[in-house]
Amino acid sequence: MSIDQLPEIAQAMVAKGKGIIAIDESNATIKKRFDSVGVENSEENRRAYREMLLTTPNLSDYISGAILYDETLRQSTKAGVPFTKVMMDNGILPGIKVDTGAKALAGFPGEMVTEGLDGLRERLAEYAALGAKFAKWRAVININIEDGMPSEACIKANCHALARYAALCQEAGIVPMVEPEVIMDGTHDIDDCYVVTERVLRTLFNELFDSNVMLEGTILKASMVIPGKDCDEQADVEEVADYTVQCLKSAVPAALTGIVFLSGGQSDEQSTAHLNEMNKTENLPWPLSFSYGRAMQSAALKIWGADIVNNVAEAQKTVYARAKDNGLAALGEWQ
Ligand code: 13P
Repeated sequence: MSIDQLPEIAQAMVAKGKGIIAIDESNATIKKRFDSVGVENSEENRRAYREMLLTTPNLSDYISGAILYDETLRQSTKAGVPFTKVMMDNGILPGIKVDTGAKALAGFPGEMVTEGLDGLRERLAEYAALGAKFAKWRAVININIEDGMPSEACIKANCHALARYAALCQEAGIVPMVEPEVIMDGTHDIDDCYVVTERVLRTLFNELFDSNVMLEGTILKASMVIPGKDCDEQADVEEVADYTVQCLKSAVPAALTGIVFLSGGQSDEQSTAHLNEMNKTENLPWPLSFSYGRAMQSAALKIWGADIVNNVAEAQKTVYARAKDNGLAALGEWQ
């Protein structure tokens, strides 16, 4: 694939009323999810779980793509059909998480920097050959106002890495999804979250510009502007939607093809309600959709985990229902 095809892929990712399902948990993260429902974290169970998700009947009514983990990109259905083929046959674009995780940032206790640039060019070439059409890299930004977090060093290091990753993706003919996640943990209020998110996004788009990244072939995966989980003053749906849209408008160039949100620990209902409210705004410069992990999967995981052999169809109904709710929210039509 050449760089000329990137805008088309990016547009398909945020097609009207469609979003992304994030199922790119590392083996360590999926262990936590499986532990919560008492399922053993074996390779076969991970494969079976991802098969349940990816073969949900008519999933592409509301889902344009799925972000996979390295192991999953190489796996097949029980019947032996590679997941990437099942996805492409069903109109779902395969995506791949390519960062190798957030590590402690030296010199800045409590802050993180995402790693994975070494050898990335070679890995991207392999992922493209395996059928990946887009990639994801997640940076972690913690807020702790009293301790001066996030530091300028943390924001700069993470945004620079995101830009180098994005440029390498485009060189490989893969659409980069850039994800600077401002974490919800903490006591900060919604105004603090706004200031930090705006600063991070402005730094990110400066870095993308400096690295010659084509915004028309890029997707932003954003966190919503929302008070910390332990903040005394929580915000209502309208407030989160207003703050988030205002922040994005002030920091994200209109040339970008689309923005999708992570759920970040919000409940299923909150994540859908917030997205829906934002999409009632008129004349947004970009489509606003979803790329939820937990908020797409948690209900289905509970059902599947209760009986991984017999509850597949029942779990898939829940996956479809969550996809539909979020697809409608991407149009501002969810009730
Ligand atoms: P959550 O929606 O569970 O936050 O996960 C999305 C994701 O891909 C985080 O990188």
